[in-house]
Amino acid sequence: MSEVLKVVDVTQRFGGLVALAGIHLYIKPGEIVGIIGPNGAGKTTLFNVITGIYHPTEGKVYLEGADITSYKTHQIAKAGFARTFQNIRLFGKLSVMDNVIAGMHTCRKTNLLDAILHTKRRRREGREAQEKAESLLKLMDLWEDRHSLASALPYGHQRRLEIARALATEPKLLLLDEPAAGMNEQETLELREMVLQLKKMGLTILLIEHDMKFVMNICERIYVLNHGELIAQGTPKQVSQDQAVIEAYLGEEE
Ligand SMILES: Nc1ncnc2c1ncn2[C@@H]1O[C@H](COP(=O)(O)OP(=O)(O)O)[C@@H](O)[C@H]1O
Ligand SMILES: [Mg+2]
Repeated sequence: MSEVLKVVDVTQRFGGLVALAGIHLYIKPGEIVGIIGPNGAGKTTLFNVITGIYHPTEGKVYLEGADITSYKTHQIAKAGFARTFQNIRLFGKLSVMDNVIAGMHTCRKTNLLDAILHTKRRRREGREAQEKAESLLKLMDLWEDRHSLASALPYGHQRRLEIARALATEPKLLLLDEPAAGMNEQETLELREMVLQLKKMGLTILLIEHDMKFVMNICERIYVLNHGELIAQGTPKQVSQDQAVIEAYLGEEE
């Protein structure tokens, strides 16, 4: 089957700094793929290139074979990539439910005229949006919180709400940037179960993690970045036994 995402020879420079150096990566439908590496390795920069926040200095990004390298962020969202951020970005003053409904705007068909005239289509879409939000909130175990303000949620729940909101766009690829960052052990375990549930549902997920342990039992393949370079790739077992990977992580602890 063709790749949902293909990154070909991507280099990203910031002035004299080479944040990404000739990166190649792909993900096929239904796969969960991990990107790991020490802090500053270039993981978030790679997400920013894939989602159109940066346009790479060199190289190409493809979505199902179509060149999206020059697309803007909203065009990429519309084309089918949804992401979460390393630093949570929610509408703090909106309810949990409304945050998820707000996430659906990229795929809704109503226009301004519909909204003003309260057309049938708008009412129907409103009802469908409620139902879809309900199932996403249940899936991410946030149903009890649906009326709370997003800003009032405990941290781990906010992270899950970000995922629910990204899922609301029905993405072809879900990109998660350190979804377990800042979570305690229990929250991390719960999140892992949810990601596995998403995998069972057939979602395609690209997952950044700093902590190797989190991705080990979830991902079928892992890419390892260090100082902007791809230093290893393969199954979790292969990369965890890779000498360059071990050294990159050991170097970090010094
Ligand atoms: N907009 C930017 N301008 C300049 N340097 C940047 C920018 N974004 C990231 N960098 C640099 O690129 C490198 C990789 O950063 P990042 O992708 O955030 O790493 P990671 O997510 O792996 O921790 C770092 O040295 C960082 O300081
Ligand atoms: Mg990062």
